[in-house]
Amino acid sequence: MASLQLQHIIFTSLLLFFISPCLAQPSFRPRALVLPVSKDASTLQYVTTFNQRTPLVPVNVVVDLGGRYLWVDCDRGYVSSTLRRPRCGSAECSLAGANGCGGNVCSIGPDNTVTNSGGPGEVAQDVVSLNSTDGRNPGRSVTVPRFIFACATTSILQGLATGVVGMAGFGRYNIGLPQQFAAAFSFRRKFAVCLSSSTSARGVIFFGDGPYVFLPGVDASDSLTFTPLFINPISTAPSFPLGEPSAEYFIGVKSIKVNEKAVPVNTTLLSINREGVGGTKISTVNPYTVLEASIFKAVTEAFINEAAARNISRVAGVAPFEVCFSSRNIGSTRLGAAVPWIDLVLQNEDVFWRIFGANSMVEVNSDVLCLGFVNGGANPRTSIVIGGYQLENNLVQFDLASSRLGFSSTLLGRQTTCANFNFTSNA
Ligand SMILES: *[C@@H]1O[C@H](CO)[C@@H](O)[C@H](O)[C@H]1NC(C)=O
Ligand SMILES: *[C@@H]1O[C@H](CO)[C@@H](O)[C@H](O)[C@H]1NC(C)=O
Ligand SMILES: *[C@@H]1O[C@H](CO)[C@@H](O)[C@H](O)[C@H]1NC(C)=O
Ligand SMILES: *[C@@H]1O[C@H](CO)[C@@H](O)[C@H](O)[C@H]1NC(C)=O
Repeated sequence: MASLQLQHIIFTSLLLFFISPCLAQPSFRPRALVLPVSKDASTLQYVTTFNQRTPLVPVNVVVDLGGRYLWVDCDRGYVSSTLRRPRCGSAECSLAGANGCGGNVCSIGPDNTVTNSGGPGEVAQDVVSLNSTDGRNPGRSVTVPRFIFACATTSILQGLATGVVGMAGFGRYNIGLPQQFAAAFSFRRKFAVCLSSSTSARGVIFFGDGPYVFLPGVDASDSLTFTPLFINPISTAPSFPLGEPSAEYFIGVKSIKVNEKAVPVNTTLLSINREGVGGTKISTVNPYTVLEASIFKAVTEAFINEAAARNISRVAGVAPFEVCFSSRNIGSTRLGAAVPWIDLVLQNEDVFWRIFGANSMVEVNSDVLCLGFVNGGANPRTSIVIGGYQLENNLVQFDLASSRLGFSSTLLGRQTTCANFNFTSNA
């Protein structure tokens, strides 16, 4: 632990030294930054946009919460007078975890975590620009002149939303987006994600501390529940250097309840074992929560029984969902469909992530609502993967320095949504 901590301090100072020697606006130090996030209607991927290159152009990339770094397609249409490729053996290359050298550029293996495929890549640096924020509106734009990323080839884009040129990794990694921004502007290594449930209204990502304010003036940072983040000692990336821990965010779900009644699950599956198997992670590349087969069976059986007690009748599944209901006897509430609650119980009985109808039920047509959880089969690498649908309209804050997650529960309960950040600039 101590050596990890020390290693981290060394890397952070290196990062600070290499990416921010010449801040464009040395007199202005933002306290937080903001990015918009849209939900792509056909792939259900979450896509963010910032400016990159010289001259600056908007770049659309898929948000990969547990991804290690930013990678973009440099083969097609990458034009920039400031693109540079650090030399082999440079500090930038070791920060990036480069694993080889070809023609004096550092090789790195970017992953498309949607399709689980990798490809060749090179470590690169270029200008990245985005808006600062006071937590209420976007403010002046700020620039990181030598943001470290990976140049990938065009073929790795397959399976990503139209118009996207790469993926942005927000994971626990030296050159993850949160680490580079925190180092460049000397703010705390914290970021928060608030995904919109609508494909026509944008959600938001904040780098830095709150406030995180949503119209009509709700600060989602003031009522967070906290739970420790865990490190999976074995990388979950498709390819990685030996001994590298996972960059993904794991939390400690200890039990699951449906309508406040414990569901019988094999608790061995809930912790991460020595091979890095098991546990619960949060992912933005899975559109719906995925449960290991026996957990899926137990949770859905309990849910079906509790629903039946309310005269909610089951109908045939609609792929990818196995458990669907007639909407006839399902009432609606401010927090979505009136269905049994699902609680992910965390470090103790009093700390749980409650999933209400708005995050559990997916309307597949006007007569049918499906439980938005999918069966992950037997022996998946990770037993519970909390997916995008269950995150929507919940603000989740990742505090890397204290290794804890803050979560708001549904903002619908506070009469706002993740689409209510005021994107009108007050710069
Ligand atoms: C910064 O904010 C302005 C005003 O809202 C907006 O037009 C611009 O697209 C934003 N830039 C980025 C990179 O998000
Ligand atoms: C619980 O899960 C572990 C890990 O998959 C497995 O080895 C064990 O046999 C399971 N226990 C029961 C009672 O099914
Ligand atoms: C369910 O339906 C039965 C028969 O129609 C009725 O007697 C009962 O009150 C209903 N229960 C609920 C919880 O609505
Ligand atoms: C959004 O922010 C702008 C700039 O501060 C402000 O003029 C506008 O009134 C805000 N919109 C709402 C609905 O409050």
